[in-house]
Amino acid sequence: MKIVRTVKELKNLVSEHKKNGKSIGLVPTMGALHEGHLSLISRSRKENDVVVVSVFVNPTQFNNKEDLIKYPRTEKEDLEKLKSEDVDIAFLPSVEEVYPEEDTRQFDLGTVAEVMEGKMRPGHFNGVAQIVSKLFEWAAPTRAYFGEKDFQQIRVIKKMSQLEGFDITIVECPIKREIDGLAMSSRNVRLTPEQRMIAPEIHRILTESVEEKKRGLKPADIIDNVIKKINAHPFLETEYYEIVDSETLLPVTDFSVYNGNESYPVGCITVYCGDVRLIDNIKYL
Ligand code: PAF
Repeated sequence: MKIVRTVKELKNLVSEHKKNGKSIGLVPTMGALHEGHLSLISRSRKENDVVVVSVFVNPTQFNNKEDLIKYPRTEKEDLEKLKSEDVDIAFLPSVEEVYPEEDTRQFDLGTVAEVMEGKMRPGHFNGVAQIVSKLFEWAAPTRAYFGEKDFQQIRVIKKMSQLEGFDITIVECPIKREIDGLAMSSRNVRLTPEQRMIAPEIHRILTESVEEKKRGLKPADIIDNVIKKINAHPFLETEYYEIVDSETLLPVTDFSVYNGNESYPVGCITVYCGDVRLIDNIKYL
């Protein structure tokens, strides 16, 4: 595995592989790697000749300074995991390398970046678009892999990719869960043992809500029930729960319009567990 810290070296390596007709799979990460990331890497390994993984805690996507400071950084352990996943290129640039000057680009991402996380974290998705567009340009991947835990992020990245004219297949990978259902996240390590015990309630309650849909409950009633049930637990406080169309991310008011549609309703949630912000989602198929 080559450990690369400069854009120049990354570009040189990639262009060499491309000259030889190799396909490139890119897995962008912010490190603190867990099984969820490793599942993206292993999929990329199966589908591409060359696997590039970036590890970079991107400051422009943090609208909260405290959150950026607290974000876990575990470079040594990350590199060991990448080696054992048979990664070809680990790209670990510094902030100065990625942003030699301020990135002032504003992407016209539309509704998909304005709702839910976009409302709660102004500027967040513009920052994601900035870093991912740079990575797309530098690594020039054939395919790029993202986890569905950040459901909205995938829609935003697809929009950015379309705006910028990248010819890259965005591969959506299913959420990886702990045995008790908690969605894997780099933030989970910040939960206290008591909070960690309660956090799986989020997925349990969302799963229960799929049954409510089958019993004929309307989206608005399901939303109320989910929020009430989650907030009834100690440590848990829902920031938002919305049931939206999987493509437009606009609110769904009636499930019956989805018979035979390609898109589907998806429930997206953010819950504070103590001061740890957890996100998750569920498909109402
Ligand atoms: O999902 C993440 O970890 C980040 O938002 C990403 C896509 C690596 C961009 O910094």
